[in-house]
Amino acid sequence: MKKLLRTAPLIIALMVLCTSMVFAGGQKEEPGDKTLTIGFSQIGAESAWRSAETDSIRSEAAKRGINLKFSDAQQKQENQIKALRSFIAQKVDGIILAPVVETGWEPVLKEVKAAGIPVVLVDRGIKVSDDSLYTTLIASDFVFEGQEAAKWLAKKLNEKANIVELQGTPGSAPAIDRKKGFEEIIAKYPDMKIIKSQSGDFTRAKGKEVMEAFLKAEGKNIHAVYAHNDDMALGAIQAIEEYGLNPGKDVILISIDGVRGAFEAMIEGKLNCSVECNPLLGPLAFDAIARSIVGEKLPKWIKQNDQVFPQEVAAEVLPKRKY
Ligand code: AHR
Repeated sequence: MKKLLRTAPLIIALMVLCTSMVFAGGQKEEPGDKTLTIGFSQIGAESAWRSAETDSIRSEAAKRGINLKFSDAQQKQENQIKALRSFIAQKVDGIILAPVVETGWEPVLKEVKAAGIPVVLVDRGIKVSDDSLYTTLIASDFVFEGQEAAKWLAKKLNEKANIVELQGTPGSAPAIDRKKGFEEIIAKYPDMKIIKSQSGDFTRAKGKEVMEAFLKAEGKNIHAVYAHNDDMALGAIQAIEEYGLNPGKDVILISIDGVRGAFEAMIEGKLNCSVECNPLLGPLAFDAIARSIVGEKLPKWIKQNDQVFPQEVAAEVLPKRKY
C-alpha cells in the first residue's frame, strides 16, 4: 500500500503527459508526419455565410493538424494579392483562395505557380486565360441559384411582379451569376420586371440602406425583393418594417445562402424563401490541396448541390442546419 502511495504521483504525471501528446492541437500527431503549412486568403467577414466558411476551414485545419496562415482581406483584392505574395515568401505548401472579384488574378497566380504552390479556389470563381493557374474551384453554381430564385418567385406571384434586386459585391462571381440566372428566367415572363437594382455589398447594413432608398422611390409599387444573400434580405426586412409594411406579406422576399438567420426569419413569416449555398467547404478544400500536392489532376470545378427552402419547411429544417 505504501509503495502504491509513493508511485501514484508518478503514474498520474505520465498519464497527463501522454494525454497532452496525443491531443496536442486536438489532433493525434503521427511521428514522422510533416506538418503542412497552408495559406488561406479570405475575403472578410461581411455575412453569416462568410463566417461559416471561415469556421469550416479553420476547424478542419485544426482537426488535421495543419498549420493555417489566415489572412482577412477586408473586402479588398489588393490585400488578397499581398497575402498571396506573403504566402510565397513563407514557402507554404498550398494556398486556399476565396477571391473577392473575378478578374485581375493572372499576374499574382503566375508568381504562385512559378513557386510550385498549388492553389485551390473556394466559393467564388475567377476569369483567367490559363486555367492551370489554379488546381480546382470548390463552389456552388450561382447561375443555378439565381434561376431557382426566379422560378420560385414567378410561381409565388403568378408570373406578375415589380421586383427590386439587392446585388452582391460588384465584380464578384456570385453577384454576376446570380443576376444572370435570375434574369434568364424572368425574361420568360413579360409581367415580371426588375424595377430597381443596386449593390448592397452582401451586408445587412447596406441591404437595409439600399432598401430604404428603393422604398422612398417606389413605395408600395414594390411587390418583391430578390436579394443575392440572406444578410441583405434581413437588412431589407428591417427597412420594410420601418417603412410601415409587412415583410413576407405586403412585400415577398427571396434570398440566397440558407443561413440560420434566414430560417428564423422564415419561421417568423418575414422571409418567404431562401436558396441554399453551401459554405462548409473546409474538408473538401484540404482534400483537394492534399491531392494536388501528390500530383493528382482534379476536375476544374467541384460543384456543390444546393436546395431551395420555402418558408413552409423552415421550422422542420432549422434544427438540422449546420450553419
Ligand atoms: O461567395 C458567396 C457569397 O459571399 C455568399 O452568398 C455571401 O453571403 C457571401 O458573402
